[in-house]
Parts: sequence; C-alpha cells; structure tokens
Amino acid sequence: MTQASAQKQRDILVTSALPYANGPIHLGHLLEYIQTDIWARYQRMRGQNCYYVCADDAHGTAIMLRAEREGITAESLIDRIRQEHQADFAGFHIHFDNYHSTHSEENKEFSEYIYRRLQENDHIATRKITQAYDPEKQMFLADRFIKGTCPKCKTEDQYGDNCEACGATYTPAELINPKSAVSGATPVEKESEHYFFRLPEFSDFLQNWTRSGTLQPQIANKLAEWLDAGLQEWDISRDAPYFGFEIPDAPGKYFYVWLDAPIGYLASFKNLCDREGIDFNRFWGPDSDAEVYHFIGKDIINFHALFWPSMLHSAGFRTPSAVWAHGFVTVNGKKMSKSRGTFIMARTYLDHLNPEYLRYYFAAKLGSGVDDMDLNLEDFAARVNSDLVGKVVNIASRSAGFITKRFDGQLGQVTETDKLNAFVAAGEEIAEHYESRDYGRAMRKVMELADIANQYVNDEQPWVVAKQEGQDNRLQAICSNAINMFRLLMTYLAPVLPKTAEASAEFLNSALDWNNRGNLLENHSINKFKPLMNRVEMPLIEKMLEASKEEVSAETAEPAPAANIEPVADEIEFGDFAKVDLRVARIVKAEHVEGADKLLRLTLDIGHGDRNVFAGIKSAYKPEDLEGRLTVMVANLKPRKMKFGLSEGMVLAAGPGGKEIFILSPDSGATPGMRIM
Ligand code: MSP
Ligand code: ZN
Repeated sequence: MTQASAQKQRDILVTSALPYANGPIHLGHLLEYIQTDIWARYQRMRGQNCYYVCADDAHGTAIMLRAEREGITAESLIDRIRQEHQADFAGFHIHFDNYHSTHSEENKEFSEYIYRRLQENDHIATRKITQAYDPEKQMFLADRFIKGTCPKCKTEDQYGDNCEACGATYTPAELINPKSAVSGATPVEKESEHYFFRLPEFSDFLQNWTRSGTLQPQIANKLAEWLDAGLQEWDISRDAPYFGFEIPDAPGKYFYVWLDAPIGYLASFKNLCDREGIDFNRFWGPDSDAEVYHFIGKDIINFHALFWPSMLHSAGFRTPSAVWAHGFVTVNGKKMSKSRGTFIMARTYLDHLNPEYLRYYFAAKLGSGVDDMDLNLEDFAARVNSDLVGKVVNIASRSAGFITKRFDGQLGQVTETDKLNAFVAAGEEIAEHYESRDYGRAMRKVMELADIANQYVNDEQPWVVAKQEGQDNRLQAICSNAINMFRLLMTYLAPVLPKTAEASAEFLNSALDWNNRGNLLENHSINKFKPLMNRVEMPLIEKMLEASKEEVSAETAEPAPAANIEPVADEIEFGDFAKVDLRVARIVKAEHVEGADKLLRLTLDIGHGDRNVFAGIKSAYKPEDLEGRLTVMVANLKPRKMKFGLSEGMVLAAGPGGKEIFILSPDSGATPGMRIM
C-alpha cells in the first residue's frame, strides 16, 4: 500500500500574530503559536510547500516608554526581547521558516509603498483632532496612559477608558482628577492633524470578502453586524515622540503601530524570499494561486478582517485565503492571574515541564472555532499521563524489549493485516481533522487506535508467550504487529510531538513518513528502546506556579531592596569583558537638563578631550556636589542619540536607587584616563 499523493503540491504561507516586543511570551500566546506550528508541520509532512513566518511587533508608545525607563534605546530593547521570544518559541519546538521584526528595512519599504498606493487611490484623508496631551512630557496620551478617579464608583487610580473596580467605561475627559501615567502631569487638550484610512470606501468589498469562506462562521456573523452598523475611518497616524516609521512627506507624524504590524507579514516573508530565492509575487501578487492563512486571537479580528484586506486590496496585493481566530486561554477556569501564579511565562514553564505536554494538551482540546481554552492543571497532568505515557508510549515499551533480547533487534512479518490496514486507513480521517484544525478530533481518533493496540497486546500477552517453548515466531509476530501500530500512531502524532516523533524514528530506525505509511516495517532491524516520555508529576506543576508567583512579586514589589537583586546574567567570556574600556573620569561640569526629571548632563574628562554623558542620577546628587570629582565611565560605548542630545559613554553606578546611587570613586590618587581592569 503506497499512497504517495499524485495531487499537485500546494504553495502555502501561514503566519501567527506578531507578538509585542514589550514583554515575554506566556502560555496564552503559546496556544496560537502551537496551533499554527502543528498545522504547518502537518502540511510539510504531507509534502506541501508550506512556509511559516512571524516577527516581533516592535513599534509603539509602550515600547518607547519602556526603553526610556530602562535607560536604553528602543532598538536595543527590541533586539533583546526578540532574542528572548525566539528562545522561548524554540523551547516549545515552534519552527518558523523566518522570524523577523517590524522594525526592519523590508517593513519600512512595504509600509511606505502601501501608504503611497492608498494615497494615490484617494483612500487617505487628513483632518485635525483634539486629544489629551501631557504638557510636561510633551506627548499625546492614548487612553491607557491617563489615570484618574472613576466617575462612577470613585475608585482612584483607574485607566482612562474603563474602571477595574466597577467595570464602567468612559472617556478620559470624564475621569475625576486625571493625570498622565507617564509624568503625573495634568493632561491638557491639544489639536493636531491626523491621517485616516478611508475604510467606509471598502464596505462593499468587505461585504463580499467576509462572506466568501475566508472567516469562521461565528466571526463572519460578528463582522456582518459591524458592517451593518457602518464603518468609521481609521486613524493611522501618531505624533512624535513615537517609536515607528515616519510617514512620507509628513514630518513628525508616524504610522500607528497597527498600520505597519500586519505589513510585517509581508516583510518577514520577503526577507525569507530574498534569502532563499523564493518568488515573492507567486504568494502575494494579485494573481497568486498560493494559499495564505493568518492564525490570530479573537481580540484582533478587526485589524485582520477589516483593515488588512482593504489595505491589501487597495495597494494591489492579493488578500488572505482565510483568517482563523482562536479563543483565549484561561487557567483552572479563570483568567490568567499574576497573584494566583497562573500568569505563567513560557520560560517558567520550560524550567519545569516538557513542552510536548502542553503541545499535546492544547491539541487535544483545540477545535476549529473561537471557544476559549481552559488549561486545567490537574486535567492536564491526568490527560498527558493517561494518553501519551499510559497509552501510546506504553505500546512500544511493552514490545521492544522482546525484539531486542530475543530476536537481535529484528522485526518479523506482520500477521494482523486487517488491524494494520485499518490503522493506515484511519490516517485519512485524521488528516482531514488536521486540515480543518480540529486537532481535538484528530487526537481522539489517535487515542482510539491506541486503545485498540493496547487491547491487542493485552489479549496476546507476549510476556506469557515469551515463556512458552517453540512460540518464537508467534512472539516475534505479536511484537512486530504492535510496533507497527505504534509507528502509525507516532506518525499521526508527529505534528504535535516533533521531539518524541524524532526519538521514535530513531528507535524504529525508520522515518515517520505519512504519505508512505502503508509500507509497514517487516524483517527490519530496530534500535534499543529508550524511554520516550516521563509522567507529569503534580509537584513539578506546583513548583511552576510558585515560581510564577515569585516572579510577579519580584516585578511588582517596589522599592524593596530585594527586588533590585536581579539574577546574575549569563556568563560571558573574559574577552567580552575585556572589550569594555573602563576609565577614571573627572567630572568637569554637571548640570540640570531642561525637561528631564531623572537626568543630569555630565562633562567628563578622560584625558582625551571632553565627553558629554547623560546619567540618571538626579535623585541622588546635586550637580554642584559632583563637579571636580572622579567617577568611572565606560569610555568605548557607542554614542547614543537621546532626546536631550548625544550621550558619549556611561558612568557606572551602584545602589538601590533614589537617594542611594553611588557613582564616585574615592579621590585616591587616580588620574583621569587611567584604565581599570
Ligand atoms: N502585536 C499584536 C499582533 C499584531 S499581528 C499583525 C498583538 N500582540 S500580542 O502579543 O498581544 O498577542 C499576540 C497573539 O497572542 C494575538 O493573536 C493574541 O490574541 C494572542 N494572545 C495573547 N494572549 C492570549 C491568551 N491569553 N490566550 C490566547 N491567545 C492570546 O496582539
Ligand atoms: Zn468604577
């Protein structure tokens, strides 16, 4: 039985939403990346030409402000976060063909190109709007950057759009005693010109597009309501200061992060195309017959099913074949919560548990719809232990030993042809479930087969047969049948459990090939069986929850000194350290910086001319107390453009913060310019 498909190979591009570069990946995110990765792995296994690309979503106010708080450039913040994200995804065996960034050359080019096309097509409008403005920080404030007292229940310290205490929604203007969450200043109203995408022009286009099989039925219905209610123009510009791309011919205006975020799908794919010689237009040109699918969470449907297809349409690209939304992850029946320890970061999970447990659990509970997904931790342990360890792996571990010990690792002929044919045939049904993202159904079918296989071994009792005289052929046949059953199960599970599948292929001494799965292993030598998967132990889960709680308290406790004791960073080589040129510097001048509440401007002499350096030490030192004294500086740090000017180095400081920051060296005969090692 070979059924290598005679059908034409499909060209497929899949994406997951681009995670924000302002925080770590958590288990909620992972539902989506695992869902997409399983689908892409399944397609590749079936021989399709399937690419999976993603990127970090690197722009916006939140990222800009966080970088400022950390005293680093936005660029270095997003580089660091991107590395963390990629390491987390790799830990969960998420295989991207490319992982890029929206802060990239490709994305800038596509964003400008698309914007110009929209402009040429008269799909951009401009008009003045009035917004809250922080007069101190000199920036416009989005609702979530304004805090104040709830106008309904009078709870203090609530965000500008809704109250966490009573659930009321309102506009920031209705807040009592509103304050900028950035500087604490009282916001004022200010006018500025904004750029709008004329979405209402696309009503007819969207009426068709959203009903042409591109969306899940629940989503298409929701969109029909929005379309009937009438569409609004979409504000795509933000005023400086903003971390993003400046709008062409509009100095001081930037593309709103959500304009260039989905364009990041094109940019990441283009980056892959350039590297691997793939024809970009075959996938994105107006006549493309490739398939393009976006996996997203249900919270970002409007961006993907209204704005994005309209932009693509206007700019002359093809639109996605489908947008597939999933629901939200809850833990133990409740929203993920920092205080309960159920806001679990990808890294914390990986420190305690095998990533394939979670891949399997999500797969076992995923359907094609937008239902929320509850990660019930007891059910999680029970299901992984009973299905994967108890059923699937068990089939191999019960049969392999006999083959190794009694038959020199050699499988014989299979005798249960009917059963095995049924296992092979079931692959068609399982394939359909994967294709339609009904992984839960696929997993149930696999477990049904696993039950049949275990029943078979129970009935045949190889451990009894092994003790009987002259039953060698029968023993070898029973074990060969069972191992072939195991092999088919692992083939079907490979998209979900890539590492266990790899280890199984190694044990079976044969690749798990879905399309040729009908070629059974007969008279074939296998390798010694090694345990494929351990049971999930509840204490490990509890440890993981504890660790999550600790992480959160370290994050929120302020300014308790212990909170400042960060874990020691990864080891570096001596060579890395030797690159840092530390010098004794004399502070020639120290001055206040207009508009900065933490910074002092220092003029430092290291014997090679003066250096201008900004240091966040205003809380601890009066400028006049610093002048003439010695400090230690990093002399070879690349100069950095800051809002207030160029910073040409960095002074070293120690202490918990506030008034206790220490930057001075004892004046003990050190000379400016002296290198410190
Ligand atoms: N940056 C935007 C997406 C831009 S796509 C052009 C964004 N980023 S996000 O980091 O907030 O979310 C990334 C994806 O993870 C989104 O699809 C979001 O729905 C999903 N999830 C984030 N938290 C989630 C849960 N708790 N549960 C399930 N999915 C969740 O949105
Ligand atoms: Zn309230």
